[in-house]
Amino acid sequence: MGKAVILTGLRANNDLHIGNYLGSLLSTVDLQRHYAGTHQINLFVPDLHSFTTPIDHSKLEEQTLHNLKLFVAAGLDLEDKDTYIYRQSYIPAHSELTVILNNFTYMGELTRMTQFKDKSTNQESVSAGLFDYPVLMAADILLYDTSFVPVGEDQSQHVELARDIAVRMNNKFNKELFTLPRAYGVFNQTKQTEKPIQIRIRDLVDPTKKMSKSDETGKGVLFLGDTPEEAAKKVMSATTDSLGEIGDFDMTKQPGVSNLMQLLATLRKTVIAEVVEEHKGQAQYGPLKSAVADEVKKFLTDFQDKLAVVDEAALMKKLADSETAMNEVANMKLAAVQQAVGLRPHI
Ligand code: TRP
Repeated sequence: MGKAVILTGLRANNDLHIGNYLGSLLSTVDLQRHYAGTHQINLFVPDLHSFTTPIDHSKLEEQTLHNLKLFVAAGLDLEDKDTYIYRQSYIPAHSELTVILNNFTYMGELTRMTQFKDKSTNQESVSAGLFDYPVLMAADILLYDTSFVPVGEDQSQHVELARDIAVRMNNKFNKELFTLPRAYGVFNQTKQTEKPIQIRIRDLVDPTKKMSKSDETGKGVLFLGDTPEEAAKKVMSATTDSLGEIGDFDMTKQPGVSNLMQLLATLRKTVIAEVVEEHKGQAQYGPLKSAVADEVKKFLTDFQDKLAVVDEAALMKKLADSETAMNEVANMKLAAVQQAVGLRPHI
């Protein structure tokens, strides 16, 4: 038996911001640090999933590679032998398995998916791709005999579906066809030993919503490509409140101030309590903003330096090697499924 597989998808069709860095890039790097050696780690870019929301198709390929470089700049180790980094569309078995799994998944199951409901409500036309998205995700997971899928709350329902499909097919065809995957709180575990992981940085202009790349103005979003000065300016003009005094960390009462405290604590790799201690009772918000702006500037300068020296050749080689290795694994699983469902002879 090989090592148990941990698999995670790295979305790549957008301009990443500091919230993505703190909430997702870093946790992936932490995951590798903690689990390489004892587990096999599959990090892949679900590029076929990109079309479920409107994107600029002319940029997808470039964006994929750019975002992988961001992961490397954030500390992802390309040398690690237990880590495989690949692009979904470079492994055709993902698509082929999806077509088969579609026939063992019910319309009712897909209609019930919360994310589908959210994304399809009030939309004029909803693509079949959006509807079928969880089945492709199930194929991503089941092809590699994945044991653990570290995902946030919003994705755990999709992992449950993958597990249901696996159970169903194991029962129908052969008990050993698929390993049963579990949504696993790896990110939360890391949290106790290191820095907070499941953090959601909010928009600086409207701190009641998540920092999101699709924000039209971008004024409340700290992009990883912003110059340190631009970013500092955005912090200095962040929306706060009119209470006139910094209180405890409280996202309901003081969302703007609390968001800044969270940002500060995370960038300093410390706990929020420490930041609260430092700023609580202050009658002005300026010092807190300046402290955050300084950290953001430092962070971006350092990050952009690292990005500039990412070894692109090494990244391309890692992708090519991983894609070769994973095509082999995926094709074996696909062949077993094809045999089970009667597309290929039993030997
Ligand atoms: N759906 C995931 C997201 O939106 C990305 C993803 C695709 C994924 N396939 C996956 C995550 C398989 C984990 C496992 O973030």
